[in-house]
Amino acid sequence: MEAILKVDIKELAREYRDYVISLRRHFHQYPELSLEEFETSKKIKEELEKMGIEYVSAGGTGVIADIKGSKPGKTIALRADMDALPVEELTECAFKSKIDGNMHACGHDSHMAMLLGAAKILNGMRDQINGTVRLIFQPAEENAKGAPAMIRDGAIDGVDSIFAIHIWAQIPVGKVSLEAGPRMASTDWFYIDVKGKGGHGSQPENCIDAVVASSAIVMNLQTLVSRETRPHNPLVLSIGLLHSGTRLNVIAEEGRMEGTTRCFDPELRKQLPIKMERIIKNTAEAFGATATLEYDFAGSAVVNDERCSEIGQASVEKILGKDGNYQFEKVTGGEDFCFYLEQIPGALAFVGCKNDEKQCCYAHHNGRFAIDEDSLEIGTALYAQYAIDFLNKYEK
Ligand code: NI
Repeated sequence: MEAILKVDIKELAREYRDYVISLRRHFHQYPELSLEEFETSKKIKEELEKMGIEYVSAGGTGVIADIKGSKPGKTIALRADMDALPVEELTECAFKSKIDGNMHACGHDSHMAMLLGAAKILNGMRDQINGTVRLIFQPAEENAKGAPAMIRDGAIDGVDSIFAIHIWAQIPVGKVSLEAGPRMASTDWFYIDVKGKGGHGSQPENCIDAVVASSAIVMNLQTLVSRETRPHNPLVLSIGLLHSGTRLNVIAEEGRMEGTTRCFDPELRKQLPIKMERIIKNTAEAFGATATLEYDFAGSAVVNDERCSEIGQASVEKILGKDGNYQFEKVTGGEDFCFYLEQIPGALAFVGCKNDEKQCCYAHHNGRFAIDEDSLEIGTALYAQYAIDFLNKYEK
């Protein structure tokens, strides 16, 4: 049976609304890039100190803090990422970035603020917590180095499950998407080098043209998506860089390509480098050239655990009512939250921050990205409510 809480988390989130907004605006004004979140880290520690919550440093600029309940139970981790992007802010808001060329254009400023707000709520209700809530403030999500570093430093040692929030620009404020199953795609990188034989542009018969071989590789690789993969099984294969040649009358000796793949199916993901290599090598050979593939498995898909998703959707209902849960298609973006989920079950919630009337309608990583700050109160409540609901579900 679920315990009746003596406090109303939703009400407390409202009470701390201004606190969370001011924190978010502070972080927004001082955006720091991946692995350089020094002032951000300091600010988080200051706030935890004010609350009387002990913390340890981890993963470089990361911070871990435990809020221990008065009753024994499981340990649930709540994660917020900390880094900003090298994007020039193009908004004219009063709390615009003060660091030239850097911006919290992905909304990680809001994640930290919401988690600190939730910490305030949870810290004040330790006597009603069955177990432990671990706060994880993680650096360097944008380059996918932060989560592995935090895990190496023990962030999820002894943790039973983990929960994260990402503010989401395509979801209206007041709605949350917390469906089970794949939510974000695996994100892998690849590098292709083509070797031909250079020479004079007027004498192709004496050369092996790396431009032609590279172009054919670009085209043939797309057949992996269109001809070899089930249409129901999404796959993206994008080549973002193609360099070859030096000038107009020289046949190129070498070609270089770099790209990324996105998918949700782990089996398909595993097969990709094998299939790609077959196409790359054979295409090059058809032109008398050679080619090599370097494939880097950078991050797996973010897959929400079914039970965690169920608990989370019930938490959303408590905060936003029946209509709070929003159906939203999984996205082909990646998240280094996947590294935690490879080890323990958990869920990632997309909390809507879109509001056209307030000009909060630009995509993440855009210089005009902005959030409806009403979303902060919702995310704060959700972090806290989820932790309580999870721990109550698995009460010892
Ligand atoms: Ni992000």
